[in-house]
This record gives sequence, structure tokens and C-alpha cells, in this order.
Amino acid sequence: MSGTKVLLPESALPERWYNLQADMPNRPQPVLHPGTGQPVGPDDLAPLFPMELILQEVSEAPEIPIPEPVREILQLWRPTPLFRAHRLERALGTKSRIFYKYEGVSPAGSHKPNTAVAQAYYSKQEGRERLATETGAGQWGSALALACRLLGLECKVYMVKVSYHQKPYRRSMMETWGASVVASPSEYTQAGLAILEADPDSPGSLGIAISEAVEDATGREDTAYALGSVLNHVLLHQTVIGQEALAQMELAGAFPDVVVGCVGGGSNFAGLAFPFIREKIAGKEIDVLACEPAACPTLTRGPFAYDFGDTGQLTPLVPMHTLGHDFVPAGIHAGGLRYHGVAPLISQLVLDELVRAEAYAQNDVFATAVTFAGSEGIIPAPESAHAIHGAVLNAMAADDEGVERTILFNLSGHGHFDMGAYDDYLAGRLEDLALPEDEIQRALAAIEPLPKPA
Ligand SMILES: Cc1ncc(COP(=O)(O)O)c(C=O)c1O
Repeated sequence: MSGTKVLLPESALPERWYNLQADMPNRPQPVLHPGTGQPVGPDDLAPLFPMELILQEVSEAPEIPIPEPVREILQLWRPTPLFRAHRLERALGTKSRIFYKYEGVSPAGSHKPNTAVAQAYYSKQEGRERLATETGAGQWGSALALACRLLGLECKVYMVKVSYHQKPYRRSMMETWGASVVASPSEYTQAGLAILEADPDSPGSLGIAISEAVEDATGREDTAYALGSVLNHVLLHQTVIGQEALAQMELAGAFPDVVVGCVGGGSNFAGLAFPFIREKIAGKEIDVLACEPAACPTLTRGPFAYDFGDTGQLTPLVPMHTLGHDFVPAGIHAGGLRYHGVAPLISQLVLDELVRAEAYAQNDVFATAVTFAGSEGIIPAPESAHAIHGAVLNAMAADDEGVERTILFNLSGHGHFDMGAYDDYLAGRLEDLALPEDEIQRALAAIEPLPKPA
């Protein structure tokens, strides 16, 4: 391919989400009620989520129609472009072909609105007036604030304290879309108060912020809880990315040998990768690579176990790779990757060796991000830069082996609100903290008494 961008017309926006649960060799184990140890039923989840989303969570249908009002909003920025990274390839001197799908063109700057719009839509359909959520880097909170604004719902965001201070303009953005934002741990919930009592200087974590948002939503009938990652229905809504990418790669006359994404809870990775994993299950040879930070190495160093999704132990028990629900990752700049667990669907795919994972130190990731910005122009979100780094390492390994590969990665968002992180990197202030095995074992002690997966 000699061109740079592959664009699809609006009419090519997918009409259905792709549900990998219909095709995967082993479906994930059930989510358990922490009190009874039994699988949770729809009624257990009804206070938190609208019923349509609960049904999507357990659906085995291969495809689920996207409601027309959701498609109309997604068309504000979708289909997103696919780029051939000619300039990055030249900068690296690689013989491999590198493509990336760019989700940073959404109004909030990342892939997150793909599910935010769907979740806000179904909540409104069911008569809820308000959504509560957590946000790490601020991308998810911005996405939900936008979706709530467009659909006429109130929005309350518990923002991880370290990000709240690192990224004041993410807060302004959410407030511009009408959301109310507080730093987490906050004094507004019992979960937040308990953390503040134990550690008044807690930097917060996604696990803590989830506890606060869940407590908020269960305490009010008019409120549903919205989660930006991890759950099956969230990953489902992101599959518009991979479906578009499949069509765009075909237009480019190429098919990937390697598909790469960064993993926090797993939604952007799944969004790109799942439609390609369908091809892999059907017999295509594809290396599917999940990239995570060395400071929060859930897939590479965490066991597969039942664990709570949040620090306050308010959620059901989820079968997933985990570092333990009270693991608080170092305050690295990829705030959206600071989560102790990974989506059950992805955890199962790792167990079944359909996906493999690597972990990278943040200074290496930022070095790649700067190379990317200097060749392709786009300044990537620190989270997305993990995927770029994975793709670049792969291209360099191919050159060492004397082979040419076609590599596709997900550029899940831009880094325009992350310039503080770039400042720190450029000034040599970023630390690569080793994560001692002792600390992982300490945190994992908390899941010892919980049920074990079959
Ligand atoms: C730009 C970007 N990429 C990736 C992530 C990680 O989340 P997920 O693994 O659900 O895609 C985030 C989370 O905030 C993000 O903002």
C-alpha cells in the first residue's frame, strides 16, 4: 500500500457488535456472589446495570444489533481512520509493515465513548436519570460525561486522586460536558472514608474509585453504575474497532501477522483484537499481543483467580488474572493501566494461549512515544504508547530474524492531556520502579480465602 490513510464512509460503521463468547473455545467461568459463592443472576446485578446490559453480559449470540440512536452518535467520529505508519517504519528502518487504528479522533480523545454511548443509551431507556462511575486517566470519565450530555443524563465521576491532580483539564473537560467530578478516595462514600482513615495521603486507585461509584449507584434508585472496561458488555461495544479495521486492512490489501493493544482492564485491546481472534479460531495464524506496564503486570505476573473488581469488596467475584484487590500500583503516568485485574474474557484467552502478554518499563514506553510523535506526528496517550512499544519491539525482532511482518496496533487515544507526563519524561524525572515479588505476594494474600476457579 502506498497511501497513508484508509478511510471508510459513515455507512460502513458496523450495524452489529461481535460477541466472541459465541466462538471462544472455553467460555469464562461464572461471576460469583461473594456471600453465597454461587453464580450471580440478573437480579443481583439489576440495582447496578440496566437489564439490556446484563443480558449482553451473558449472551451467546454471535452478533448483537447496535441500536440506531447509538450508531447516530458514534457517526460523529466513526468510522475512525486506519493509518499505514510509513514514517515510523522509516524512522525504525524496519522491513515490516506497521498499521494503526486511531481512536483518538473521538470528541473525548479515546476509544472509551464507543461503550459510554451504548451504556448511557440503555440506562436512559430503562428510566435511569443519573450515572455514577470512576475514572483513572480521565479518558473514561470524559467519555461518559460526553455520552450523558448527549443523551440528557446526569453524571457523577470519582476520579483517582493522583490523576485528578496530574490532569486538571480532564476535570474541566468533564465539567464542560456537565458532569460532577470528585477526587477519589473522597469523603462522599463509606468506602472512600475508610481508605482516607487508614491512609489520608492515599493516591487512590481504580479499585478504590470503583468502590465509591458502586456505593453511590446502589444507594440511589435513579442511578446506574457504568464501568469503562473489564466487563463482557464493555468489550463487546468496543468491537466496532476491530470490525472496521478488518475492512480497512482488506482495502489496504493486507492482513496482520501480529495484532497489538495495551491492556488496562482490556477494552481497547479486545475491541481491536476480538474480530481478529475470530479469524484465528477459524484457522488464520495471528500473534495477538497484550501490552501492560511493568508497574502493574497483571497478565504477566498475576495468577488467574477469583477476585473482587474493587478494593472495597463491593463487586461480585470475577474470574481473572489479578494482582489482588488491594494492590495499589505505583503512580505511573499511564493512569488507565493502573488496575489490579484484567477482563475475564481476556484472562481466559491468555489461559487458552490465544493471546500472549508482555510488560514494559515506562521510560522505554515514553522513548517509543517520542519516536512515534516525531515520525507520525500524533502525541499518543501514555496507555496507547504501550501498544506502540509492543509493535515496535515486534518489528525490530522481525528484522533480527530476517523476516517481514504485517503489524497492526490500536492507538487507543491521544495524549493532549498528558503533557505533564511528557514533561517528566523529557526532564528525566520518570522513575522505573521495580515491583518486588514480595509486594505482589503481600497483595495476593488478600485473595487466599476466596473461592478458586475450576
Ligand atoms: C487512551 C487509553 N487507552 C487505554 C486505556 C486502558 O483501558 P482499556 O484496557 O479498558 O482499554 C485507557 C484507560 O483509561 C485509556 O484512556
